Amino acid sequence: MNQPLDKVCVIGGSGFYDLLPSPKEVMVTTPFDKIPVHVLEQDINGRRIFFLPRHGGKHSIPPHKINYKANIFALYKLGVKRVLSTNAVGSLNEAMKPGDYVILNDFIDFAFPITFFEDGFEITFNSGKKLSGVIHLDMSEPYCPEVRNSILKTIETKNSHPNGSYARTMGPRFETKAEILAIKRWGADVVGMTNPSEAILSRELGICYATIAVVTNYAAGLQKELSHQEVLDIFNSRLKELKILFFDIIKNLPVEHGCNCARHIKN
Ligand code: HPA
Repeated sequence: MNQPLDKVCVIGGSGFYDLLPSPKEVMVTTPFDKIPVHVLEQDINGRRIFFLPRHGGKHSIPPHKINYKANIFALYKLGVKRVLSTNAVGSLNEAMKPGDYVILNDFIDFAFPITFFEDGFEITFNSGKKLSGVIHLDMSEPYCPEVRNSILKTIETKNSHPNGSYARTMGPRFETKAEILAIKRWGADVVGMTNPSEAILSRELGICYATIAVVTNYAAGLQKELSHQEVLDIFNSRLKELKILFFDIIKNLPVEHGCNCARHIKN
């Protein structure tokens, strides 16, 4: 009997709007939006790879308007088990320079609460386990160690950092200098406007999630001024390499899951 295909999704950030060479479009309806989520899919090397640009096709959705719940629920409905995401970030750590990659291992998120488990949401997972009501998830290790390991094994460039802590701000504006000073004192290495929402919601649905952050600038006060164009330009300069890297990482993902990210949805 044929095994079901292992399903992996790449979520693209600012400046990353396509990945797959000849994708099929899939529209997924969810309880979280009237508009279906638009995902691209293609089978490559025995895996079904999905691509979801979080800001829409041409950066049409600002960070605070991204429907994270619809996006992640759509991936769950499609049977995605692992997500590799990328985010443009500002750096607070001198060693993490524009153009560098940071493989996130932690985050600080005091921006806004996000969870599927509100408003009577109830879900029965394939394991038969039902979850509803209020849940408080363990976030001691918010990114999947196994997916992170595949990234670390694959990434060869010297411009990459194996660990980094991401602080999320609400956006869409960049931060003030005082905010960056405060965030630096908290111990974050990089700052961005999106990532933890996806990491949290993925974990709630038992989907493994890990991120390659791309440093596009030093954060406010650590360089003269900030512009969205600079973020896009630096991200773009990394895009070709990043796309190849994503395919190589996916090749290196073990087929069997050895991590514990989905423990709360097992029976
Ligand atoms: N701050 C917040 N988000 C960002 C930045 C930044 O400096 N650079 C890229 N995304």
